Amino acid sequence: MSDFLELAARRQSCRNFLDKPVEHEKLVRCIEAARLSPSACNSQPWKVIAVEDPDKVRQVAEATMQLGINKYFEKARAFFVVLEEPGELMAKIAVLVDSQVFAKGDLGGFVLSLCLEAESLGIGTCIIGLYDRPKLRELLGIPAWQSIFTVIAVGYPSSDTVRGKSRKPLEEIARFV
Ligand SMILES: Cc1cc2nc3c(=O)[nH]c(=O)nc-3n(C[C@H](O)[C@H](O)[C@H](O)COP(=O)(O)O)c2cc1C
Repeated sequence: MSDFLELAARRQSCRNFLDKPVEHEKLVRCIEAARLSPSACNSQPWKVIAVEDPDKVRQVAEATMQLGINKYFEKARAFFVVLEEPGELMAKIAVLVDSQVFAKGDLGGFVLSLCLEAESLGIGTCIIGLYDRPKLRELLGIPAWQSIFTVIAVGYPSSDTVRGKSRKPLEEIARFV
């Protein structure tokens, strides 16, 4: 088994964190890994806000819990808020030609690279899809024209147990011709 496959198997959504700060340099390293992700026409349609100030972290955690669905992130020690940038001209042309939207896929790669780099450093992450968007905009000064792609909770995991993965079998999702 390759090291990368082991890393991919070990990464899991972390919803319980130790009371231990995440080093600034490690947050930078996660962003550095994500920055190297591929994108359509190299348009790099991403920006990221790393929230590490404890007071702001607490407020972002509250914004993730306000809808009553996510109750897990009060112990997160940092957050990444990933923003979608308007695409480059070439990527926009490709959208017209192919009627495909590439930016979301590019951003998905960015987010996963970030999470996998965190995992390689022993740091847990959880991608959060539901949160109070207006609150987050207000807290972090995100203008209305800039779309929030996702929020990622970050912290050292409170347990190092790797849960079993629940995934469709390979034969169901892949076809070799
Ligand atoms: C776009 C996206 C949104 C998600 N939103 C949430 C969320 O709001 N709350 C949560 O606890 N987990 C959330 N997750 C985590 C998924 O539930 C998790 O990735 C999935 O169940 C697979 O488990 P694993 O990450 O542990 O392998 C989200 C994941 C993705 C990719």
